Amino acid sequence: MRLIRELLPPEIRVAETESNFGTLLPSEEDYFRGASSKRILEATTVRACARRLLANEGIHDHPFVPSTDGRSPWPDTVVGSMTHTRGYRAVALGYRRRYLAIGIDAERAIPLSQAVLEAVQHPADVSTVTHPLWTAILFSAKEATFKACSSAGFDVRHPLDISIRLGSSGSFEATLPSVPSVSGQLSGRWGISHAHVMTAVVVMRTSPHYAPPRERSSSLMPDHAALESIDAMTVGLLE
Ligand SMILES: CC(C)(COP(=O)(O)OP(=O)(O)OC[C@H]1O[C@@H](n2cnc3c(N)ncnc32)[C@H](O)[C@@H]1OP(=O)(O)O)[C@@H](O)C(=O)NCCC(=O)NCCS
Repeated sequence: MRLIRELLPPEIRVAETESNFGTLLPSEEDYFRGASSKRILEATTVRACARRLLANEGIHDHPFVPSTDGRSPWPDTVVGSMTHTRGYRAVALGYRRRYLAIGIDAERAIPLSQAVLEAVQHPADVSTVTHPLWTAILFSAKEATFKACSSAGFDVRHPLDISIRLGSSGSFEATLPSVPSVSGQLSGRWGISHAHVMTAVVVMRTSPHYAPPRERSSSLMPDHAALESIDAMTVGLLE
């Protein structure tokens, strides 16, 4: 399976699966105690995917316990994003020295209802996509952008904080009209499988448009030579 994989640069590690597997760490078990079995299965699988990717970097047993805004902190050397929905789970991971943030999202391939579309559509949203699923793609693009922006420290709280221009060739541009400090566009990609629509956004650390509000101290930055050699390693898909 190579769905979100196809939407991201090759150097971003991706794990995707339709299955359920893995186990939670004790702190995660505490967090998810009382959640529905569906929620626990999806959360467990996506965390197992993330830990497999991290194991390739020599990082083991990293817990993903959501904080109050829903994000689970990643280890200092990497940035990542997770998505899980019925029949699909995926994780993407990149090096923090190169990427400020990543956002991935998958949604079931069902058009939005008119009511939901009206709730999330920004007046400046534009779509040149004529596919009947364009509304689901728009929604997913906003979710992926939201995850990337939230991880980057940009103050985005609502679908209407994000304006999307969907291109018919599988690309989209996102702008943040209500966040004046972010003047440029984020570039993303979208795709459709038989059962899902999916989107991915990466925010490069070198982008001229952004003054990252959460710069890390240089002592936390990984050794570049070591990372170049890790970059060359094969990306392992789970299936
Ligand atoms: C947080 C949100 C983006 C999650 O999206 P979703 O489609 O419901 O769920 P997904 O399975 O795709 O993603 C869930 C994962 O996103 C990640 N996530 C949660 N909150 C996050 C945040 N603030 N920033 C980045 N990633 C976040 C977590 O890894 C989570 O997995 P977990 O709960 O198992 O830890 C969404 O629920 C939300 O609240 N959006 C805010 C409103 C908004 O602006 N939406 C724009 C779209 S119209």
